[in-house]
Amino acid sequence: MPRFAYVDGQFVRHGEASIHVEDRGLQFGDAVYEVWAVRNGILFDSEGHLARLARSLAALQIKAPLGNASLMVIVRELMARNKLKDGLVYLQISRGVARRDHPFPAHSYPSIILTARGMNMAQADLRAAKGIHVQTCTDIRWGRVDIKTVNLLPNVLAKQAALEAGFADAWFVDGDNMVTEGTAQNAWILDSDGLLRTRPATHAILRGITRDTIIKTAQELGFSFEEKAFSRADALNAREAFITSATSFVTPVIGLDGQPIGDGAPGPIARKLRETYLSQQTSVKRP
Ligand code: PDD
Repeated sequence: MPRFAYVDGQFVRHGEASIHVEDRGLQFGDAVYEVWAVRNGILFDSEGHLARLARSLAALQIKAPLGNASLMVIVRELMARNKLKDGLVYLQISRGVARRDHPFPAHSYPSIILTARGMNMAQADLRAAKGIHVQTCTDIRWGRVDIKTVNLLPNVLAKQAALEAGFADAWFVDGDNMVTEGTAQNAWILDSDGLLRTRPATHAILRGITRDTIIKTAQELGFSFEEKAFSRADALNAREAFITSATSFVTPVIGLDGQPIGDGAPGPIARKLRETYLSQQTSVKRP
């Protein structure tokens, strides 16, 4: 079955989709992006991702090329053309095409690209059922990782190093030995006192849309929760740990730097949050 992408107003064959050589996203990383999960044909947290997209665009002073309603029509058409039941939708908006020069161009139109890809949910569910091992690494990223830009080289390198060392992923740790977040996920623990913790959403982390939804879910379930940073040592002493993101939903972390977290198996709180999140998302009525 052919795959389709969307580039600046047109649906095109994925293999033939291309952007201009002087797109500022390509040359300067002058672009923002979003990733939505799709499960059973349902687009997860659709409004949350749109709201963050607006914040990222505003932070870079890029004018949204489309309104949300038009964007959603394109997203749904892309899903339909790709017969996407389980997978991801990727959106990127750059400042546009201009002669290479650092300042914002006087005249440029934001470029927009969208792609869709399938994901094996059975495999993702199995990974969550087993839990993953992560390693820590120094957070060398810039000071505004709260803006969802495409500048992801530290994340790419950290993930690659983790895989090469036999781990599934990496958690960034700041200069005070406090965990910031994962390479493409927010980091959580259930600490030794039974308090669910994730780092406050400052400029030091990306404020995950899944994170925000899970905070609400945790509160609805009556779990004691605080936005409170935790150290690598706190994580090693924790009862449970897990990550949240559009690509992992809630996935237990059962080991850190080769040492087990809790009893080294997925814990009941992470499992409950994942189950509740998936059932809430798939039962939400959407226009
Ligand atoms: N990443 N932190 C970072 C650094 C991320 O890149 C992401 C998402 C998250 C979680 O955000 P959300 O819950 O909105 O997915 C946290 C996407 C999935 C990616 O880059 O593929």
